[in-house]
Amino acid sequence: MNVAGVPYRTIRLHADGWSVEVIDQSMLPHEFRLARLQTLGDVARAIADMVVRGAPLIGATAAYGMALALRDEASDAGLARAYAQLLATRPTAVNLRWALDEIRTATVQLPPAERVGAAYLRAGQICDDDVALCSAIGEHGKRIIEAIAQRKGSSPVNVLTHCNAGWLATVDWGTALAPVYKAHDAGIPVHVWAEETRPRNQGASLTAWELGQHGVPHHVIVDNAGGHLMQHGAVDLCLVGTDRTTATGDVCNKIGTYLKALAARDCQVPFYVCLPSPSIDWTIRDGVAEIPIEERGADEVRLMRGLGPDGKPTSVLITPPDSPVANPGFDVTPARLVTGLVTERGVCAASANGLAQLFSERASHK
Ligand code: MRU
Repeated sequence: MNVAGVPYRTIRLHADGWSVEVIDQSMLPHEFRLARLQTLGDVARAIADMVVRGAPLIGATAAYGMALALRDEASDAGLARAYAQLLATRPTAVNLRWALDEIRTATVQLPPAERVGAAYLRAGQICDDDVALCSAIGEHGKRIIEAIAQRKGSSPVNVLTHCNAGWLATVDWGTALAPVYKAHDAGIPVHVWAEETRPRNQGASLTAWELGQHGVPHHVIVDNAGGHLMQHGAVDLCLVGTDRTTATGDVCNKIGTYLKALAARDCQVPFYVCLPSPSIDWTIRDGVAEIPIEERGADEVRLMRGLGPDGKPTSVLITPPDSPVANPGFDVTPARLVTGLVTERGVCAASANGLAQLFSERASHK
């Protein structure tokens, strides 16, 4: 997608041909800055500190992290160490484990001298594939928006989204926002309610920024406004992404998603989850019981980050300094609250049967 008219992906190889360049998302929306990752440690920190974030992008970055690690140590022990270090960076998004497995499979049978090249090759494919998967999700999701637009006439289709599941969360296009971009580009009037997404405000800082860059009409709302807007008919459709979806269609996504699904069900607003297949964890069936939920640091809740009156980045304390804080990063929306899953292969019911119809080769392995 474009930044000030220039096409970017969130991750690419640096011009040197071996280090990795990413958009530093910790500085957005105030500063557009690229970061250069040169070592396994750089990549592990970038994922853990959320310089890069969003399930598909975490996977893509980790894949390149394996390639960088193998440049230093291509033995079996080096491969295993890099795999373990990267896997420990963030526990919830299954794309991380998927991408690490892809690199391990592509390299482990090779002699050490051939592993680096194979890892770079597979990491590049993972990035290119992610763009294709997200573009296909966009096409399938666009049809849902188009159908609503036909019913509404000339007034815009109002989409509510939570967190950032746009192109910044992937290599390009995004998951939940891909249908929005495809619809907008096709001339279908669309407007987005971007929930701010406490505590890290991915909606306020990232979703709003990328929609603005692409010229998509939107409003930032506080997380608690979503239910009210749905009650008053101001939301036609909820579109969210996912960090891990079970083989039965339970959807884990950024904390607060579950509450929106409950409100959407009460207000009869369709609630779709957009996901590339590497976000499906075929090994589990009960999302609430089985998905590991990341608990992040207390300062994310205690402090609000932004620009100070001098225009420089600053933090302000918003809690009593001694109040204990809990900070679960994700929640699980049970499949029964999900209208449908929008995948690269089409839209299906959020159920084992629905997923099996689209991904028979995976589902039959269970
Ligand atoms: O903690 P984050 O910012 O990595 O969480 C991101 C999300 O929850 C997204 O909605 C999810 O990764 C789906 S994105 C394509």
